[in-house]
Amino acid sequence: MPPEERTTTAPPPPPASGRRARWRVAEHTRASCTTVVANTLCTLLLVLLLVAGVVLFVVWLSLRPHRPRFAVVSFTVGLIGRFGSSNKRTINILQNVSGIIKPSRMTLLLGPPSSGKSTLMRALTGKLDKNLKVSGDITYCGHTFSEFYPERTSAYVSQYDLHNAEMTVRETLDFSGRCLGIGARYDMLAELARRERNAGIKPDPEIDAFMKATAVQGHKTNITTDVTLKALGLDICADIIIGDEMIRGISGGQRKRVTTGEMLTGPAQALFMDEISTGLDSSSTFEIVKYIGHLVHVMNETVMISLLQPPPETYNLFDDIILLSEGYIVYHGPRENILEFFENAGFRCPERKGIADFLQEVTSKKDQQQYWYHDQERYRTKMPSGTISDGTKFLGALTFSLITILFNGFAELQLTIKKLPVFYKHRDFLFFPAWTFGVANILLKVPVSLVEAAVWVVLTYYVMGFAPSAGRFFRQFIAFFVTHQMAMAMFRFLGAILKTMVVANTFGMFVLLIVFIFGGFLISRNDIKPWWIWGYWASPMMYSQQAISINEFLASRWAIILNDVNGNLDAKKACAVALKLHRKYLKKIQGKKP
Ligand SMILES: Nc1ncnc2c1ncn2[C@@H]1O[C@H](COP(=O)(O)OP(=O)(O)OP(=O)(O)O)[C@@H](O)[C@H]1O
Ligand SMILES: [Mg+2]
Repeated sequence: MPPEERTTTAPPPPPASGRRARWRVAEHTRASCTTVVANTLCTLLLVLLLVAGVVLFVVWLSLRPHRPRFAVVSFTVGLIGRFGSSNKRTINILQNVSGIIKPSRMTLLLGPPSSGKSTLMRALTGKLDKNLKVSGDITYCGHTFSEFYPERTSAYVSQYDLHNAEMTVRETLDFSGRCLGIGARYDMLAELARRERNAGIKPDPEIDAFMKATAVQGHKTNITTDVTLKALGLDICADIIIGDEMIRGISGGQRKRVTTGEMLTGPAQALFMDEISTGLDSSSTFEIVKYIGHLVHVMNETVMISLLQPPPETYNLFDDIILLSEGYIVYHGPRENILEFFENAGFRCPERKGIADFLQEVTSKKDQQQYWYHDQERYRTKMPSGTISDGTKFLGALTFSLITILFNGFAELQLTIKKLPVFYKHRDFLFFPAWTFGVANILLKVPVSLVEAAVWVVLTYYVMGFAPSAGRFFRQFIAFFVTHQMAMAMFRFLGAILKTMVVANTFGMFVLLIVFIFGGFLISRNDIKPWWIWGYWASPMMYSQQAISINEFLASRWAIILNDVNGNLDAKKACAVALKLHRKYLKKIQGKKP
């Protein structure tokens, strides 16, 4: 078909009147207007959302704490405890931990696993878990955490390596340097140069060159990063990605160094490094610690490093040692004095033993005994029992308890005398029969004696190491209760008959002296002359002394008397041996007889 024909076959436009055409134009204009308005509105909405997002982000940024720089000189650490969350069990992680860490000193934190090293470091950098209950103070130059921003002043190098796997080593260190706020130090250097000029100081050319190099602006990487990379031996892998379990990157030991370097590029003046040697060989550890040591001494920084097993040459780089054990600080002081400290406590480091290993083992219960060097003295502080000389110590402890209980009754003397005038008045006016006053006084003192004896026995019985038996514990308690009652009755009686304080005090002390002398401890019964043995039988202390001594020494642990620690044979054993020899001798003689 020819094209002309096709054109002619298309339906012709309907003839439109002028009104309908105008309506169509209006319709078309309205539709396009609506589209334009809708588009504009959408764009506006998007822009608004974007602006709101930016504003919110800026507000959030401005509300975040601004962190000024703060110089560290020293700080003190207080007590830290913990409340368990789910089962409400309380674990004390650090107990009564206190100390001062000085700048320009590198401190080694040593301690067995779970002794609280990481917790102490986290506490010092204000990074403790929220579920831990903390008490005490941590101050930097006397300022508490609420007065400044510890994140800027101190840096905690975690024992775990957490990094962006895709970033290279150099990028990671650069990023941390910039984020931590050092940047290019051009302004700082300009100010320094001005001050030096004014003061007429000529800077050391090498240091000056280094400082100028660190201040160069516009470069992608900072010279501080290069120095840190070199010092940590990371220059060989500077442009390799860090990697993780899925992406192969640098080695574990190198990752550990990146964790350390990340914080070293920052401006923090106090560095707390947790087990930075894990995965490193001893020579790398030595090099890193040596570099940090230079930083500490040149830049006046404060550094605490925890290492599990530092090699001897690394150990010798430290100025101070903190030894933690089961949440307590066992030693905190100069490295040079630590062996002397333990030697005074009875533990000696063998000649060929590494000091750090010795320190780890001497604080552990199972390894400690091998280092005890006092052969004559017992290793444990428990009061030994079994020999006659041990017995005299226990007898002394018992007598001390008895004297304390007797003295406690002395207060009754003054109390009685104070009450006498009122009692006489009431008695003379026939308020009550006199015996009722006496009985009330006796009965009211029973609970006092019970409490007094209970407190004493509970506090001392197991601490002093008396026979570990519940029956003996209660018998001692009863003996002390009765003794206290006796002491109060005696002093009440003296108060009642002596009536005035001065006479009662003088005479009371004299009576106490007599009671002691005849009590059977100061002078033994066999040494008392027959003409004053009545004093022995009349002394109430003697009965108490007998009761508590029998109670203790009839315990089974005293049944087999051992040799004295000095090698002296006890009497019982000596007799047995003598009898045996005697019988042998008799047999021999009888055998020789015809
Ligand atoms: N947030 C916490 N919640 C519960 N227990 C905790 C918490 N922090 C620490 N602990 C407990 O405190 C104790 C000391 O932990 P910490 O990590 O300080 O020991 P460490 O000396 O660093 O040990 P390691 O040498 O193994 O790293 C551990 O028994 C640990 O379980
Ligand atoms: Mg730890």
